[in-house]
Amino acid sequence: MTENARTGGSYWIESAPGSSYPPLERDVTVDVAVIGAGIAGLSTAWELTRAGLSVAVLEAGRIAEGVTGHTSAKLSALHTLVYARLRRTHGADAARMYARSQSEAVEHAHEVAELLGADCDMERCDAYTYVRSLDRVGELRAEEQAAREAGLPVSFVRETGLPYEVAGAVRLPDQAQFHPRKYLLALADDLRAKGALIHEHTSVFGLEEDDGCHVTAETGARVTARDVVVATHYPVFDRALLFTRLAPRREFVVAAPLPESRDPHGMYITPEDNTRSVRTAPYGDGQRLLIVTGQKFTPGTGDTDERLTELLAWTREYFPGTEPSHGWATQDNFPCDTAPLVGLLHPAARHTYVATGFGGWGMSGGIMAGTLLTALITGREAPPWKNLYEPRRVLSVLRSAPAFLRNQADVAYHFVGDRLRSPRVDAADGLAPDSGAVLRTPGGRTAVYRDPDGKLHAVSARCTHLGCLVAFNAAERAWECPCHGSRFDTDGHVVQGPATRPLKQRDI
Ligand code: FES
Repeated sequence: MTENARTGGSYWIESAPGSSYPPLERDVTVDVAVIGAGIAGLSTAWELTRAGLSVAVLEAGRIAEGVTGHTSAKLSALHTLVYARLRRTHGADAARMYARSQSEAVEHAHEVAELLGADCDMERCDAYTYVRSLDRVGELRAEEQAAREAGLPVSFVRETGLPYEVAGAVRLPDQAQFHPRKYLLALADDLRAKGALIHEHTSVFGLEEDDGCHVTAETGARVTARDVVVATHYPVFDRALLFTRLAPRREFVVAAPLPESRDPHGMYITPEDNTRSVRTAPYGDGQRLLIVTGQKFTPGTGDTDERLTELLAWTREYFPGTEPSHGWATQDNFPCDTAPLVGLLHPAARHTYVATGFGGWGMSGGIMAGTLLTALITGREAPPWKNLYEPRRVLSVLRSAPAFLRNQADVAYHFVGDRLRSPRVDAADGLAPDSGAVLRTPGGRTAVYRDPDGKLHAVSARCTHLGCLVAFNAAERAWECPCHGSRFDTDGHVVQGPATRPLKQRDI
């Protein structure tokens, strides 16, 4: 269990039907194996199937229930302050490529939804990046200029639909918001109708590339494919050591019914207050569902209860009269040089591809990845933004050396420092019901959770990815690794990678 009663769970999962695809139990041969069934994986599988290739999709849990089932689901090419940063780190041309590729992805989502007749609450609306502090207006003006130079029809405004004043906002018209799970279930239905294989509850642990690719599932069954796409959010196979270039960040999301008359009509985000993002969704009976995201943090650090309390208080204060009905958390990987990583997985790879590092903008990023990877795999002419997203790029990483080194310093800090801070084993006696702590025990550091009935659940605190120590997320009752963002439930089962193996059981 990873979401407690206070957060209630994802609205996207609650409000769309469940899926039921069988685990992979026999060997199969297809053109392409896609590992991971979030928006990047399913979009890629759908594009490939449409191009006439046979595809098998392998998902460790349920389709569209992982990261994509917990997003805020904005389809926009305006990504907070990304254009000023891209222009600085990659140059003006790269910023143009980013704007074009993300805008095309937004339009493509509309076309696909229409083509499939998908009832996915797709709504056109404007996107805004705003600030409330006069001190940050200059930053916003720089973003406006960079976004305009990148080709986006942005404008600087002071009036928005928000119920509070802003010092300024960059507005990009005609973007979109949708129900991500309904959209992906429509894609999956179409995939199945066209003969693609979809297998849920199919974790994979082996990937070999020689004259073909072989993917081995936990069940022992194998998929033989000419090409493999690793679209597992954080890559489960990482021979390029991409984890050194990605920083995981988590945010809380709360949702509250709001009368239609108070709909702010738009998608809003500010970098202030440790990020606040606002949108709404249809909720029936003259109501909208207000969806607020914020309180960004590194998984496994700080007081999560306090962060969630702050976000709930902010929602009640800025949208008076609302009472949150749902709450969940979202996680994404931020590349140290800003651009996502979509393309061949490592320098020696010929047939293994990756899609990751969408930096909080996985909806347009995942759809963009689907079309880009399909062009690369089918050998069609690749779009001109191929090089921007090239995972094997070096130059931009060097330009972004400070961010890269900061990532590594953070990981080293947690790897060493967290080991020095664990209390001794007798602290378990003082653990309150429904709380957890990492303790020093004779067998090594142990992650101990006391459930509401007083029973202790003990597992090794050593993350099975690369050995950092996990820490307890009290707001979601989960063990989280601060190094690369793996998450485990209170019995040690993997909830989110890159770890693929559970935490070892311990006696205490
Ligand atoms: Fe990499 Fe835990 S996620 S060490």
